[in-house]
Amino acid sequence: MHIVKTVSELRDAVRAWRSSGQSVALVPTMGNLHAGHLALVNEAKKRADRVVVSIFVNPTQFGVGEDFETYPRTEHEDQQKLNATGADLLFQPAVSDVYTPDAKTLVSVTGLSEWYCGASRPGHFDGVATIVCKLFNMVQPDVALFGLKDFQQLTVIRTMVRDLNIPVEIVGVATVREESGLAMSSRNGYLTSEEKTIAAKLYQSLCAAREAVLEGGQSYQEIERKALQFLQESGFQPDYFVVCRASDLKKADENDKELVLLVAAKLGKTRLIDNVCFSRNPPQSPFGKGGSRRQGDLNAKS
Ligand code: PAF
Repeated sequence: MHIVKTVSELRDAVRAWRSSGQSVALVPTMGNLHAGHLALVNEAKKRADRVVVSIFVNPTQFGVGEDFETYPRTEHEDQQKLNATGADLLFQPAVSDVYTPDAKTLVSVTGLSEWYCGASRPGHFDGVATIVCKLFNMVQPDVALFGLKDFQQLTVIRTMVRDLNIPVEIVGVATVREESGLAMSSRNGYLTSEEKTIAAKLYQSLCAAREAVLEGGQSYQEIERKALQFLQESGFQPDYFVVCRASDLKKADENDKELVLLVAAKLGKTRLIDNVCFSRNPPQSPFGKGGSRRQGDLNAKS
């Protein structure tokens, strides 16, 4: 695997591939790679001839008092994992290579970026949209892959790509979970072993709410209220639990079929997020009952 630090080295490598007709996938990350990231790289390898992985802890998406300084940086281990997975190029720039000190441009997906995680982390999604837009301009990939775990982030990026006519296909890849159901996340490393056991209840709350939605008979408001109560009683400080339309993350009503349940909650010092997306449409198979619980089927070409 080739490792580059500067935008000009990156562009030289990508240009050489392009001149021989090869397609390019981008997997943007902030490092501290786990099985969820490696699933993105594996999916990228199926979708393009060459895979670029970026590792950049992006300062503009962290708020004041958040964990930018302490965010786990595991350069050596990350390089080994990417080598073993078969990425072609690692782009690992310094902050000064990415942002000029007097940068004046921000990409903002209005509305969506202020809801849910955006309400608790003002400016976070502007930082994400700006860095992802910059990475798209630097790499000019054919396809870019993101985890479905960060569902609101994925929706912000899809919306940006649509609104700015960026010629890239956005692919969402299913969340990788530990055996307990806990979604893989770099921030899981902040949890004590006791907290890790409790953390699995976040996914349980989503599964229970999904069953309640599919069963019917309760309002979405009631389902959200019960989930928040369950989380509070389990030791979390819940931020939000919402039943949304998968397409635009507006609050769902009874007519909506493609849904996503989004949750964020603090456990001790650690803020965790998770979601499940599913369909209320009757299944095709005569053996199924209710809607579909599949995740990872929401990939639309942008
Ligand atoms: O999901 C992440 O790791 C980051 O938000 C991303 C997309 C790499 C942008 O910094």
